[in-house]
Amino acid sequence: MQMTESTLSFTNKNHLVTESYKTEDKLNVRILTHRLYTQPKVDFVEWVLDKVEWRGNETAVDIGCGSGNYVAAGQTRCQTYIAGDLSFGMVQALSHPNLPRLNMDAQQIPLASSSVDVVLANHMLYHVPDKEAALREVKRVLRPGGWLVAATNSAGNMAELFSLRRQAMQRLNIPINPVLEKSPVADLFSLENGRSILKNYFRHIQRHDLAGALVFPAPQPVLDYIASTRDVLETFLPSVTWDMLYSQLQALLAEHFASHDEFRVNKLGGVFICYP
Ligand SMILES: C[S@@+](CC[C@H](N)C(=O)[O-])C[C@H]1O[C@@H](n2cnc3c(N)ncnc32)[C@H](O)[C@@H]1O
Repeated sequence: MQMTESTLSFTNKNHLVTESYKTEDKLNVRILTHRLYTQPKVDFVEWVLDKVEWRGNETAVDIGCGSGNYVAAGQTRCQTYIAGDLSFGMVQALSHPNLPRLNMDAQQIPLASSSVDVVLANHMLYHVPDKEAALREVKRVLRPGGWLVAATNSAGNMAELFSLRRQAMQRLNIPINPVLEKSPVADLFSLENGRSILKNYFRHIQRHDLAGALVFPAPQPVLDYIASTRDVLETFLPSVTWDMLYSQLQALLAEHFASHDEFRVNKLGGVFICYP
């Protein structure tokens, strides 16, 4: 796989914990955007967790919990829910009282072997530089009969948003890096290549897909969503400022909304449920 500045910033620990996920703000913009503008209205977290047959007495560990999107729904399904993340800022900001929490790296999970029934690794494996190490660790901490729940996106997810970004860059004569043509998860851990990565560690793998769309009624939430990834995008802006790119995005969206009532971004997400 071609390693570029962008893919490096996508998996670089220092960039992740000091920029992308230092605090929960940027991630929460994206989570809220999906909640507000996705059609049809499906609660993705509930949809994912319903793919597992919970007994109710499990210990589950969420190994890239972010701002705690899965915590409340997870706690209602199991006995003990442990929230972990690489970013200390994320773990510290979790507001759930009495929640066991770990500032941890998925490549070295600080739990005993065979100590949990469920590992949740949702929308995070694409950030892990050594996925093989992380999956070895997941398998080590799982008890016999346990599962891994690994949600991610399709390589073709949100193509219209990438296209908008590319058009804005073209207007500024920024050379288009091929990585910008597709979702950054495409080569890292996507619905399409996930099974081939997981199959060395799990014998039974189910893939569930959920298609939908973000339907934006106005430009601002589109701009806010793109701005929430500014730290990664700026690695592609050697010769222009962020404000110049933002102005081009505003102009493109104004042109679009002059003749359309909405801006539609197709989505394909899903989850792998894996049994060793
Ligand atoms: C896109 S967010 C997903 C958060 C949450 N799982 C969700 O679905 O809403 C990715 C999270 O993974 C965390 N992360 C990235 N690399 C990690 C690693 N090696 N170990 C643990 N967490 C990691 C980031 O800090 C971030 O909070």
